[in-house]
Amino acid sequence: MTPPDGTESKLDDLLREDRRFPPPEDFRARAHVSDESVYDEAEEDMLGYWARWAEDLAWFQLWDQVLDWQPPHAKWFVGGQLNVAHNCLDRHLHGPRRNKAALIWEGEPGDVRTYTYWDLHREVSQFANALKGLGVEKGDRVAIYLPMIPEAAIAMLACARIGAIHSVVFGGFSPGSLADRINDADARVLITADGGYRRGNVIPLKRNADEALQQTPSIEHVVVVARGWDISRTTQTTMQPKRDLWYHDLIRDASADCPAEPMDSEDILFILYTSGTTGQPKGVVHSTGGYLTQTYATTRWVFDLKEDDVYWCTADVGWITGHSYIVYGPLANGATVMMYEGAPDFPDRGRFWELCAKYGVTVFYTAPTAIRAFMKWGEEWPEKHDLSQLRLLGTVGEPINPEAWVWYHRFIGGERCPIVDTWWQTETGGIMITPLPWVTETVPGSATRPFPGIQATLLDEAGRETNAGYLAITRPWPSMLRTIWGDDERFRQTYWSKWDEPGTYFPGDGAKQDENGNLWILGRVDDVLNVAGHRIGTMEVESALVDHPAVAEAAVVGKTHDVKGQAIAAFVTLRDGKEPSDELVVALKAHVAEVIGAIARPEAILFSADLPKTRSGKIMRRLLRDIADGKALGDTTTLADPEVVARLKQRYEEEGEP
Ligand code: WT7
Repeated sequence: MTPPDGTESKLDDLLREDRRFPPPEDFRARAHVSDESVYDEAEEDMLGYWARWAEDLAWFQLWDQVLDWQPPHAKWFVGGQLNVAHNCLDRHLHGPRRNKAALIWEGEPGDVRTYTYWDLHREVSQFANALKGLGVEKGDRVAIYLPMIPEAAIAMLACARIGAIHSVVFGGFSPGSLADRINDADARVLITADGGYRRGNVIPLKRNADEALQQTPSIEHVVVVARGWDISRTTQTTMQPKRDLWYHDLIRDASADCPAEPMDSEDILFILYTSGTTGQPKGVVHSTGGYLTQTYATTRWVFDLKEDDVYWCTADVGWITGHSYIVYGPLANGATVMMYEGAPDFPDRGRFWELCAKYGVTVFYTAPTAIRAFMKWGEEWPEKHDLSQLRLLGTVGEPINPEAWVWYHRFIGGERCPIVDTWWQTETGGIMITPLPWVTETVPGSATRPFPGIQATLLDEAGRETNAGYLAITRPWPSMLRTIWGDDERFRQTYWSKWDEPGTYFPGDGAKQDENGNLWILGRVDDVLNVAGHRIGTMEVESALVDHPAVAEAAVVGKTHDVKGQAIAAFVTLRDGKEPSDELVVALKAHVAEVIGAIARPEAILFSADLPKTRSGKIMRRLLRDIADGKALGDTTTLADPEVVARLKQRYEEEGEP
């Protein structure tokens, strides 16, 4: 294929991966801080440093002790009392921020809503009172299953205001996944919507919720947001008398006077489920004071947020990125947050850039998988829109390949915006490894170094320092997960038992460090996949497959994918009497999507008479990955040739695959 004129030289440029990008002078000059000494200051007195951040927040009662560390259990700002909603709303009501846009929202069909801090405070308070009216009390769990509409943020903040623990479930999850999460947390109330728009279609959330609700005895009430008359008609929303209530009915007469509940610094703010190496997702528990301190601090320094910025993080509130960097971090900073409901390619592939131009977005935070899709769609889309207001770009969710980084820098950032590649996890709550755009010389593909106050290193299996091995966090940090809901033993086992040294956290990622000290995160080293920035456990997909009557056994691996990073490939052994067929491939893919949600739909199903295992019965995943990537078979086929498998297995055994 001959590239069109001019693109050849562009490509050459894009592949020069050894480039360094120092912070632009004018960016540095305007930044909150521009001095590298922050690293040393944090290093010299870690507790004093975090305490100074915490002092920026509003406390009803100051703490007596910054940190109580009994590995693996940490308490931050012990004895302190505060309220997260109070910090995100009330404290901005006394100056000019009162009338500033807190939230600028656009729906996929183009409807727009803007909430000032005053507006958001009023509606959150009203909804908080409505929840109280339904009997929700401090410590109760509330499940939230909403599209990307302002009510998602309002519901989270309303829970925080009264001390209820929210558990947000991504709207793309199936009824079964929703039910599992509701039941694990014993939620009393579910907040959902009649539907939401995605790529021109209506996702019938209430209908999905109704299916889940058949198996969730703990739910007493369901609050339903009317996303639009149109949607209720399309989705035929039915309301069960007494149990189900419309959101707009509830807040219509609710008082806007709802004092924020004083919470202990260590009280739980939320639970968020994430996939692990077993079939059961883990309820990651985050608490109040430490979480808010670190999300506040990182939002401020990593995004260098200013009073007049328009900040847009494209994540969904169903993931940790949406919690920490759409809702809590930015609002604690009094920022203006942009929020968009729908898909990046609806009605055309320029939608994100049209939104950036329309609202004058200055800081833009997205995922590498999105950047690779934009790259594939071509620069003609961003070139149609005025992106001159952008001043900083960010990425999160998976390693970013240097080509995508350089494309982002050139075609979105106009070669003037620094890029922050931020490494962190659901469990870490906030950003951990990242450039600071005002001091760090960035290198495409590297998340560079730990945020001030964070200590990370690379260890080998035996716990010795190395420059290529497992990423390890060697000191507690304020927004660390506190436990796994209802399973403290799993918390210890999963994160704190890899090495003998107590208090060393194992995130599950491999990484290397270059001669300049920059960290390069290489990806998961456990049986967890990262599909389009979403974490999916291989075991979850395997149990969904085995749940199908035709399947005897299944093994799931990640397959390299140029946009998603990884796609799901499943090797399936059928039950006696079942024959492989194209129809069955379609049916199995649909079955997984139905059991877990569309994000877990396998890209490829390969039937195999048996699965290659070691003598101890462990599935040889490396072999399966090679087959899935076509490395072994030369092309993709739905049938893994047993002879090839046998031959490869032999070779791998000779090479010593575990
Ligand atoms: C896993 C965490 C953090 C919010 C989004 C995902 C991978 C995340 C990066 C990055 C390389 C990254 C890791 C991590 N990851 N950010 N900048 N560079 N890898 O949250 O679902 O908890 O997934 O995402 O593998 O362990 P999550």
